[in-house]
Amino acid sequence: MHKVLVAFDGSKPSERAVAYVINLSAEMKQPLEIHLLNVQQEPVLFGEDYLSADMIEELGKSLLDKSGALLKEAGKQLEQADVVFTLHPAVGNIAEKIHGMVKDLGCDTIVMGTRGLGSFSGLLLGSVATRVLHDVQIPVVLIK
Ligand SMILES: Nc1ncnc2c1ncn2[C@@H]1O[C@H](COP(=O)(O)OP(=O)(O)OP(=O)(O)O)[C@@H](O)[C@H]1O
Ligand SMILES: [Mg+2]
Repeated sequence: MHKVLVAFDGSKPSERAVAYVINLSAEMKQPLEIHLLNVQQEPVLFGEDYLSADMIEELGKSLLDKSGALLKEAGKQLEQADVVFTLHPAVGNIAEKIHGMVKDLGCDTIVMGTRGLGSFSGLLLGSVATRVLHDVQIPVVLIK
């Protein structure tokens, strides 16, 4: 069974990545094992001395909640298509988390957008997509 990691940031290309795996799974003889990952980047905190450990923990929790809520929305598309999937909300460095999850789960394919939520329109490939391509040794399907 193919284990596919879909990196989802809520952008249109990442929505198309979800649609792509739905179509792909409909064509496969064996069902795909689909893992949907979103990573919320930790903000750089200046003057951490002024923040209590509780406040930092709260911040981490609310980022994780945000990540979970975003994934739940994406999961609805998969539910409607009767595709089985697992959600992975996360907080941290985006490309590192994608790479780490691929290793931990033993995924054989990554599906992601060429671009994401970034606003600079001149790029063909965003920084997360570029980093992931550098880091991993498995096939990466890039969706425009
Ligand atoms: N926070 C994230 N969590 C999960 N996947 C992500 C995240 N950010 C980006 N991705 C994945 O990477 C793809 C490419 O996004 P990327 O961030 O590289 O481009 P960008 O946002 O246009 O550019 P940049 O972030 O460099 O300004 C997205 O379509 C998505 O599949
Ligand atoms: Mg981005």
